[in-house]
Amino acid sequence: MEIIRCQPTIGAEIRGVDLAQPLSRETFDAIHAALLEHKIVFFRDQQISADEQVEFARRFGPLEVNPFRPQGENRPELQIIRNDGDNPVLSTDVWHADLPFREKPTKFTILRCLEMPARGGDTLWADMCAAYDGLSEPLRTLVTGLDAVHDFKNFRVLFRGDPGKREQLARMEEMFPNPTHPVVITHPETGRRVLFVNRQFTLRINGMNADESRQLLEILYQQASVPEYQFRLRWRPGTLAVWDNRSCQHYAANDYYPQRRHMERVAVAGDARPRFDPQALPSGDHATIRRVHAFDDTGPGAG
Ligand code: SIN
Repeated sequence: MEIIRCQPTIGAEIRGVDLAQPLSRETFDAIHAALLEHKIVFFRDQQISADEQVEFARRFGPLEVNPFRPQGENRPELQIIRNDGDNPVLSTDVWHADLPFREKPTKFTILRCLEMPARGGDTLWADMCAAYDGLSEPLRTLVTGLDAVHDFKNFRVLFRGDPGKREQLARMEEMFPNPTHPVVITHPETGRRVLFVNRQFTLRINGMNADESRQLLEILYQQASVPEYQFRLRWRPGTLAVWDNRSCQHYAANDYYPQRRHMERVAVAGDARPRFDPQALPSGDHATIRRVHAFDDTGPGAG
């Protein structure tokens, strides 16, 4: 097995693994370790069925069912993401981690490409550990210890219309009653600090007035848009990616309408509420980015 780092802190290709074959404990553990380190890993040319994708995902833990996405026939854990001229994308083109409107947000996502447009349809991921590290010290101090409220926001559009839909919406609101998560969380396995707010699902920061909350969130959301923190994947049918929603966010480029793009997704359920541990220290070495500018009076030679 070979692991090829793609960007300084995020993204790696794993070669030499056939996911259609049973994976040894040792190989699986190496994949899991690579996932924690690189936040998103991908495999090319995997000829696997939906059932094999589901079984691979199950190795990472119990699976969750997404209530907002069409599901595979007889396979509720399989989510079908098929966009074309009759079915434009629904909010996958807004930076997010998966399902932080759950008390225990999604842990890992496993996405497999079945069909791609001739051009476009890439997915981008942002390293939210680097995004936190890249904030200035005063801003890190300000946001660490704050809490934010999350909601399924844009999915509300699915419940517009007749009273039946409104009843469904009420059921969803009961199921997902706006959990509060720390703005900065400690990754439970790596000990890294992670910026855990996103443009798609975060509503507001607790204890601030609406203007303050909106403006501070805007600064924090911008961190996902910094190219140095990103990795971009050009999919091909047979490409399968796995990412860690506790350390990165993603964005599916919406640049191929009305062509078809067809993906199938399986998600590993979260097993813990996100928390911040002020004592935690990162375990092991990790790659970092220093965006040092020659003109910056905090850069080398300053003073
Ligand atoms: C998603 O937002 O989970 C879907 C990503 C994609 O379709 O590339």
